[in-house]
Amino acid sequence: AKKILLDCDPGLDDALALLLAHGDPNLELVGVTTVGGNVSLERTTANALALREYLGFGTVPVAAGAGKPLLGDVREASHVHGETGLGSVSLPVATLPLSELHAVDFIIETLRATPGAVHLVATGPLTNIALALEKEPAIARWAASFTIMGGSFTRGNATPAAEFNIYADPEAARVVFDADWQVVMVGLDLTHQALANGPVVERLARLGTLAHELILPLATYYASRNSHDPDGQAVHDVCAVAHVSRPDLFASRVARVDVETTGKLTSGMTVVDFDASIPNALVPVALDVNGFWAYVEHVYGLVATH
Ligand code: BDR
Ligand code: CA
Repeated sequence: AKKILLDCDPGLDDALALLLAHGDPNLELVGVTTVGGNVSLERTTANALALREYLGFGTVPVAAGAGKPLLGDVREASHVHGETGLGSVSLPVATLPLSELHAVDFIIETLRATPGAVHLVATGPLTNIALALEKEPAIARWAASFTIMGGSFTRGNATPAAEFNIYADPEAARVVFDADWQVVMVGLDLTHQALANGPVVERLARLGTLAHELILPLATYYASRNSHDPDGQAVHDVCAVAHVSRPDLFASRVARVDVETTGKLTSGMTVVDFDASIPNALVPVALDVNGFWAYVEHVYGLVATH
């Protein structure tokens, strides 16, 4: 199995991504680190801890990281994810402890311990990853791969130009794209193909308690409150984890990605050049939608029947 370390800000779709990383027999979840993003760090961390206990992977460390971006003010998305970050889901408060390590140190030490073996995935603002790179640039070599959910090559969602995870900490995103690795950028153009629409929801509903307590409320909370989202809610972060396990489901192009940090209208925009001579990123552009949902439903089914 591929070892995976998930840095996240749960978050509806982060929770669904965590469920995939936990349940996929082709992946071994070796740690979860949290960052402030969709909601405060206190809440994203409480959510990660509660999910760990509910799903029963108590031996996997959870470490808390940065609560605010490298520069500027906190920008959150509780209007999307609800006050707690998990929409209408309410899980028992966790009893197992948080790691004593800061997320930045947990990331560095986990990658150092087995160079070339751990796939790093970030589904929130990139603050922890940027701080880890600044403290130990060698993590860029140690990571087996590095995948983010973030950015886009067309339009944003937090603003017309910027996707939320990049918008929430543009300076961190710039550090991350400038580092000595290939960033797999799973952006909005890709994730808007992964919609939990009517037929998907209907199939997921057959998974019983797990579906009714967790999966469906997470996958429909936002869409059910927003009539302008009739095609279903995008499960953005799930796509980033899926790319580690099943890259065959994606068609991708290499590109040069630079992050706008100062633009008055464009701060947080990822400027994607598919013709650049020195690429720094791999950008999935097309998803095998049926294959993706078959895979996700299969993995969720394994967890549901366990
Ligand atoms: C991203 O922003 C967050 O709100 C989601 O969890 C996802 O990571 C989508 O733009
Ligand atoms: Ca997220």
